Amino acid sequence: MTILDIRLIPDPVLRKKAEKVEGPSDEIITILDDMAETMYNAPGIGLAANQVGVLKRLIVLDCSTEEEEPNLLKMINPEIITSTNEKSELEEGCLSIPEHKSNVVRPSKVEVSYMNLNGETEKLTAEGLLSACLQHEIDHLNGILFIDHISRLKRDMIIRKVKKQLRENEK
Ligand code: NI
Repeated sequence: MTILDIRLIPDPVLRKKAEKVEGPSDEIITILDDMAETMYNAPGIGLAANQVGVLKRLIVLDCSTEEEEPNLLKMINPEIITSTNEKSELEEGCLSIPEHKSNVVRPSKVEVSYMNLNGETEKLTAEGLLSACLQHEIDHLNGILFIDHISRLKRDMIIRKVKKQLRENEK
């Protein structure tokens, strides 16, 4: 397995819409394995293919807590099919926006449909952290970042700080 480079804002690949995948080919399974390795190495709790420069509808997540067994999910073409009107607010961060966190309001509960590694369609209902994480990663596949869900003032401040940090790292 390979640890892939994680793209940071303002990389344009993070703003592109990823394309549907036909099924779990060897190539797709390798990308998902590498994405999982990259996510655990970061460490993070979710990663979308856009974040490693691949415009395919693939995500990996593991939202288990330290006390729980690892629960790695690899999803092909994930899609939110229902979401509640009830909203929840949770603090989010993103491996593509290092060192910045913000509270984000999203539907509390979602039902997601996706293709598993055997090419079968599965459904998953999630709430709490897993629900927010699924919505965050599926947003990535549509070129949407968590900072798009917060105030413009806060968003611009975060983008400015990350750009400044990147410039300083180059010196
Ligand atoms: Ni993210």
